[in-house]
Amino acid sequence: MSITLSVIKADVGGYVGHSESHPDVLAKAGECLARAKKDGLLVDYHVTKCGDDLQLIMTHQQGEDNEKIHKLAWDTFVDCTQVAKKLKLHGAGQDLLSDAFSGNVRGMGPGVAEMEFEERVAETIIILMADKTSSGAWNMPLYKMFADPFNTIGLVIAPNMHSGFAFEVHDVKEHKKITFNTPEEIYDMLVFIGAPSRYMIKAVYHRETKNIAAVSSTQRLSLIAGRYIGKDDPVCIIRAQGEVPAVGEVLEPFSSPILVEGWMRGSHQGPLMPVSIPDSTPTRFDGPPRVVAVGFQLSGGMLIGPRDMFADKSYDLARHQANEMADLMRRHGPFEPHRLPLEEMEYTTMPEVAKKLEGRFTDL
Ligand code: 13P
Ligand code: 13P
Ligand code: MG
Ligand code: MG
Repeated sequence: MSITLSVIKADVGGYVGHSESHPDVLAKAGECLARAKKDGLLVDYHVTKCGDDLQLIMTHQQGEDNEKIHKLAWDTFVDCTQVAKKLKLHGAGQDLLSDAFSGNVRGMGPGVAEMEFEERVAETIIILMADKTSSGAWNMPLYKMFADPFNTIGLVIAPNMHSGFAFEVHDVKEHKKITFNTPEEIYDMLVFIGAPSRYMIKAVYHRETKNIAAVSSTQRLSLIAGRYIGKDDPVCIIRAQGEVPAVGEVLEPFSSPILVEGWMRGSHQGPLMPVSIPDSTPTRFDGPPRVVAVGFQLSGGMLIGPRDMFADKSYDLARHQANEMADLMRRHGPFEPHRLPLEEMEYTTMPEVAKKLEGRFTDL
C-alpha cells in the first residue's frame, strides 16, 4: 500500500515567550485534523510540539506536495493563529509569511518534510523535530546514521545495507542540488555538508533499492522573508529497520551533543540537547536548542504510537553534557564563537552602529 507521510510545522505563537506551545493551540490543531480524517482526506494524524513549534504529522494517499494536504495544514495554522492572537501569545502567526495560500506551503514559512512509500511488512518511522536551530542541524546526524560505520554497524555487517546510501544535498543560497554516493564520495560530500548553514541534506536513498530512507525540511525562513523572523526549527522523517538503520542507529548520533546555530535571537551557537516532548521547553537563554524524536509503527497508514524516544534514561548523560557545553558557550557572552559570525546573524545592529560611527573610522 502506497502511503504519504507529511510532517508540516510552524511556530504560530509562543507560550511563554518562545519557550513552549499553548495547549489550546494544540487542541485547535487536533480539531482541524480530526475533521480532515473524518472527511477521508487523512488516513491518520498526530499533533505534537517541539518547544514553540506546532507539528502536524499526517498520513494520507494524496502524494507529496498535494494542494489539499498543504491547504489543510495552512488553514490549520491560520485557525491556530487566531487562538494564539486571542491569548496574545508571543509572535502569533510568526511563521506565516503570506496572507493567502497559493497551492503549496513551501516558501510560505511553514517547514515541510514529506515522503511517499510502499508500506513495508513492518514500517518503523522516527520523526525528529528541533527547536532553536536551523535545517543544517541534521547534516551531521544524517551523515552518522547513513554513512558512518562507527555509528551504524549495519553498514558493515548487514548485507542489505552494505552497498551504501545516496545523499541529496541542497545549496539553499544558490538553489542548486547534487547527489553524492556513499561511501565512495564521503570526502567530497563532507566539503559541502560540513558547512550546514548553506548546504543541507534534503534526502537519503538506499542505493540498491532506490527507496527513500530519510527526508528533511530544508529552508531558511530568513532567506525566504529577507529579514529575521525566527529560526527554521527543522523536522526530519527517517524510516528505520530492515534495509535502513535500526532505531538505535538512528538515535545514536544524539547521544553526543554537537553545537548548532539558532540559540537566542537565532544568533548564537549552542548544544543540541535530546529531550522528551514535555522537556522541550527551551528557557535558559531561550535554549539550549532541543531535539525530540517520536517513533511510530505504521499499519495501513495508521500511526501506531507515538513513542517519545528521547524520554529514555540513556540520554541523561547527553543532556548533562549539553548543559555543560551550554555553560561553556554562555561564558563567551556577545563574543564568537557563541555569537554567530556576522554574515550568519539573523539580525544585527551593525549597519546602524557602523553608519553612526562612519566619520570616526580613520585610515590605519
Ligand atoms: P531486528 O533483527 O529485530 O530487526 O533487530 C535488529 C537489531 O539487532 C537492532 O539492533
Ligand atoms: P523561535 O525561532 O523558536 O521562535 O525562536 C526565536 C528566538 O530566536 C528566541 O530567542
Ligand atoms: Mg517562536
Ligand atoms: Mg521555534
